[in-house]
Amino acid sequence: MDISPKLEAAINEQIGIEFSASHAYLSMSAYFERNAFDGFAQWMRLQSEEERVHAVKFYQYLIDRGGVVRLLAIEAPNWDFESVRSVFESSLAQEQSVTQHIYDLYKIAMDESDFATVSFLKWFVDEQVEEEKAVSDMIDKLKMAEGNPDSLLLLDRYALEQRASDASN
Ligand code: FEO
Repeated sequence: MDISPKLEAAINEQIGIEFSASHAYLSMSAYFERNAFDGFAQWMRLQSEEERVHAVKFYQYLIDRGGVVRLLAIEAPNWDFESVRSVFESSLAQEQSVTQHIYDLYKIAMDESDFATVSFLKWFVDEQVEEEKAVSDMIDKLKMAEGNPDSLLLLDRYALEQRASDASN
């Protein structure tokens, strides 16, 4: 069964959203590099790479289902931020928006009884829970560290260790 034109269009949009997220995370990483936060920079760099992997998963899925890939333009992301916390808050807002788009895709797939797409999307539904939790936890820690440079530097180190342990699992 070929994918419907409606799902094809929605998946093409999702490919664009994932590439935009990758672009935005790379820009956040550059901000942290400029400000000598090596751990936060690494966190965002790896997140950028993960988003690219997500985009390519959707891309490959669309090809496998006989759909036509139409890549969309990517807008320039924000490149300057007020604080470490504001970067992570932007990240959380971005992830929440991605989650909503995945839920919208899921609803279309359910309405069309396209169970292959429903099954494919389940991985993304679970992934979004993990991603939102990781960013929310970091925001909570950053709130506790507010006004304390030593704690902020410890969190920068923690971010580095956290991503290194994710990468080894
Ligand atoms: Fe691909 Fe962070 O969502």
